[in-house]
Amino acid sequence: MKLYICGSNRNKNCYKVLNDLKLLDNKNDKLITLSRKNIKYCLGCSACIKNLDKYCVQKDDMQEIYDNMIIADKIIIASPVYMNHITGILKNMIDRLNPFSCHGNLKGKKVYLILTGQMSEKDNEEIIEDIKKYFNGISEFMEFEFKFIKYLSSGDVESIDDISKCNKNYEKIVEEMKNIINE
Ligand SMILES: Cc1cc2nc3c(=O)[nH]c(=O)nc-3n(C[C@H](O)[C@H](O)[C@H](O)COP(=O)(O)O)c2cc1C
Repeated sequence: MKLYICGSNRNKNCYKVLNDLKLLDNKNDKLITLSRKNIKYCLGCSACIKNLDKYCVQKDDMQEIYDNMIIADKIIIASPVYMNHITGILKNMIDRLNPFSCHGNLKGKKVYLILTGQMSEKDNEEIIEDIKKYFNGISEFMEFEFKFIKYLSSGDVESIDDISKCNKNYEKIVEEMKNIINE
């Protein structure tokens, strides 16, 4: 089962890409949009380190994400670039994965990343590398396999709300991304 996670606060570019990928795939796959979820901040209480039975002492929508991550073999995340990084809601969700980090729940799973941003791929080259480094770093101690799929520019204000307008071969790009995920 594939779990798609949208790290945007809007149902626009990242959501469209993930939805298009999902439509082309298995109906059992699930798409979660973080903006619709109530995800509290990590308390840093370390209860998850001590308690092997519970994911986290806080009860919120992370429970649904934990459950879906447990059954997923592939997790596909899309995030807009916000201030040269992933969005805050996505970072917050990743912080809440500390229980999985402690107990190895993501070990061997494949985690993919798609980024969108207003700037061109060239202009965001270093930022993309920084974000890849961040994911590679957490993949090491969480023992998941990380693969960066693609950066898609959403361009200027005219095309900012429809990523397919800024990428001429959009359908082909989606098909290529799908092939990478299904490799
Ligand atoms: C608060 C904020 C910060 C942003 N920062 C950047 C940035 O640093 N670099 C960039 O290329 N685009 C930046 N963008 C543009 C978005 O990444 C871009 O429009 C993206 O495609 C939006 O994706 P979405 O439609 O899924 O929300 C920013 C947008 C917002 C709202």
